[in-house]
Amino acid sequence: MDLQQISLRVTKNGAERALVVGGVGSGKSTLADYLGTDFTRRYSKSRRLIADTKPRYRAEVTVQGRNAKHLYRKWGHGQAVPGSVLVYEPEDLALAWDLGYRVAIVQGESMADLVRVLDVCEAFFRQANAKVPSLLQVDETCDFFSANGYPKGGSDVMIRVARAGRERGLGGLYCSQRTRAIPVSIIEEMERLYLFRLDAAGDIKRLEEMGAPVTVDDMPREEHAFMYWRKRGGYDDLYGPYRLAL
Ligand SMILES: Nc1ncnc2c1ncn2[C@@H]1O[C@H](COP(=O)(O)OP(=O)(O)OP(=O)(O)O)[C@@H](O)[C@H]1O
Ligand SMILES: [Mg+2]
Repeated sequence: MDLQQISLRVTKNGAERALVVGGVGSGKSTLADYLGTDFTRRYSKSRRLIADTKPRYRAEVTVQGRNAKHLYRKWGHGQAVPGSVLVYEPEDLALAWDLGYRVAIVQGESMADLVRVLDVCEAFFRQANAKVPSLLQVDETCDFFSANGYPKGGSDVMIRVARAGRERGLGGLYCSQRTRAIPVSIIEEMERLYLFRLDAAGDIKRLEEMGAPVTVDDMPREEHAFMYWRKRGGYDDLYGPYRLAL
């Protein structure tokens, strides 16, 4: 199957929201990278922001126009996200778009960085308008919520993107190892699910809240395999397993 058949869309009905979930190292960020790239290619005027709190993705350049390679010296081998620019603070976003970039990455790993990452996401949300397809790609959704689902860092922007992004042409691609700390207000907005193996029954159970008919028996067994589910008006189904051919 072609990845294009299952990637996120922006239609006249608005932008889609999707969840990529699965255990440690199952392949979530890799799949999200492909899905995000597909979005950028499909919508030639689109904008994408990657909220990378691990961090995991490499930007090609800094917003000052310098090669960003030196920032990732200590990392192992890996590809930069094509056409991406590293942004640090909210003001950098407008600059990045003015310079013609269409993919921005905001990174940080500490609790102090979290507020800054949220500020940039907030600016991205404010800029969103139905004329420009845009996508917020969140690599570790649980970093933004405490165990009871309460937003960290004083901002609920991750929830607002899920709830109010549709009308503004702003899609959301949320990745997570667990479903438990993700607020129901995000879960219930999801229209596509990419499900790598989950082991905890509680995590599987929560997928019911988005309407996905998934049980322990549906979990993919193969390494890096995922199931795909799409919510349609009143009709739903689960497909797969699939695996990205890298
Ligand atoms: N379809 C695939 N085929 C082969 N290798 C894969 C595939 N998908 C992912 N991998 C490899 O598996 C490793 C983990 O992938 P990735 O970082 O995407 O997982 P993750 O679920 O995001 O992990 P984490 O939970 O640590 O965030 C990487 O080395 C990646 O190259
Ligand atoms: Mg990951």
